[in-house]
Amino acid sequence: MGYEMRVYGWIAMTILVICVSPCLSLEETNGGICNLYEGSWVYDESYPLYDSSKCPNIRTELDCLKYGRVDKQYLKYRWQPSNCNLPRFDGKRFLTNFKGKQIMFVGDSISRNQRQSLMCLLRSAVPEAKVIKQGMDPFINYTYSDYGVSIIVHHTTYLVDIEVEKIGRVLKLNSIKNGNIWKNMDVLVFNTWLWWNRSGADKPWDYIQIGDKIVKDMDRMEAFKTALTTWASWVDTEVDTNKTKVLFQGISPTHFNGAEWNESGTTCANETTPMKGSTSSVGLPPASYVLQDVLQKVTKPVHLFNITALSELRKDGHPGDHTINHHIDCVHWCIAGVPDTWNELLQALIIN
Ligand SMILES: *[C@@H]1O[C@H](CO)[C@@H](O)[C@H](O)[C@H]1NC(C)=O
Ligand SMILES: *[C@@H]1O[C@H](CO)[C@@H](O)[C@H](O)[C@H]1NC(C)=O
Ligand SMILES: *[C@@H]1O[C@H](CO)[C@@H](O)[C@H](O)[C@H]1NC(C)=O
Ligand SMILES: *[C@@H]1O[C@H](CO)[C@@H](O)[C@H](O)[C@H]1NC(C)=O
Ligand SMILES: *[C@@H]1O[C@H](CO)[C@@H](O)[C@H](O)[C@H]1NC(C)=O
Ligand SMILES: *[C@@H]1O[C@H](CO)[C@@H](O)[C@H](O)[C@H]1NC(C)=O
Repeated sequence: MGYEMRVYGWIAMTILVICVSPCLSLEETNGGICNLYEGSWVYDESYPLYDSSKCPNIRTELDCLKYGRVDKQYLKYRWQPSNCNLPRFDGKRFLTNFKGKQIMFVGDSISRNQRQSLMCLLRSAVPEAKVIKQGMDPFINYTYSDYGVSIIVHHTTYLVDIEVEKIGRVLKLNSIKNGNIWKNMDVLVFNTWLWWNRSGADKPWDYIQIGDKIVKDMDRMEAFKTALTTWASWVDTEVDTNKTKVLFQGISPTHFNGAEWNESGTTCANETTPMKGSTSSVGLPPASYVLQDVLQKVTKPVHLFNITALSELRKDGHPGDHTINHHIDCVHWCIAGVPDTWNELLQALIIN
């Protein structure tokens, strides 16, 4: 098979993988194939989907209005895929359809960001619903007891293990010991990247173990790829994908570098509108190519929950300096805000 044939084959497969389950249920417009991730942001007066001041316990770095953000236009964008419509989030339908099921977000603070948005969305739909919280960080289980729906977060920055040994803390690229806790879910949403490029005192490990070798440091993109590959073979050997739907969240983009939107020297801090244009016009962070590469090698069905390009357009979606200690945060996302769209996408993927 020629190179071109293979490339087209991959493109066709990617479209299949992305579209088969979510897209058949969505009404197609414009006569094209529905790719939920290809589209643009449109101004919509009917957004945001909830009043964040009524949602209790939003983590301080995410509650932008409370910490002084005054511009509000960033709350008013709806994601519009090019060839179909994304259904508005419907909390009652979510809980009813997901009755008796469990979803787990496994990953870094971006996973918490999404979990928080999901619970604010549900709260605004069923404010009186009882939520039982069990466990402590890194495992927290929130159960909507009237529906038997559990939303669980496992906070783990690298997915692979960090173990304390005689020499110090060792990041083990070939080891996943938490897998048994993840396995019994109905839906798993993984994510990791933020911590892979940290250095100095900011990194929570002293050595990296790769195979039998222990090293002081290594190329981080290579380390990231090795860990993802460990995760991929865990899925292939351990997960019953007939029972568990596996999603891997695309890299969540950061906006510290104004040059990306032609305003060198600025950060996200004063941004109040999305970048113009559509997902097809923005570049993707290098780590997202590594992720795509590894996911293509998984034999079992896993879905790339491809929020990267659509979030890349949202330079206005971060807290900026509206945080508790006024450090500039162009990593996380305000709530209400962009993660609400991630959850509308999630709803389209997992709720029939
Ligand atoms: C993710 O979506 C973006 C925007 O549509 C696209 O450029 C990229 O190729 C997608 N990734 C995969 C693996 O489909
Ligand atoms: C979460 O809590 C619910 C309610 O107590 C329980 O049924 C469920 O098994 C728990 N899930 C996990 C993974 O601990
Ligand atoms: C990793 O960090 C270094 C130093 O802080 C930075 O120059 C580089 O752009 C980062 N790489 C990625 C892929 O984020
Ligand atoms: C999953 O379902 C398919 C089709 O129904 C079946 O052939 C396969 O054996 C199942 N796999 C497992 C691990 O149960
Ligand atoms: C930045 O400028 C280039 C060249 O003029 C243009 O193609 C691109 O769309 C601009 N990007 C943004 C985000 O405005
Ligand atoms: C945002 O804009 C204000 C007023 O133009 C300026 O004083 C402030 O320094 C800017 N903040 C950042 C973080 O760029």
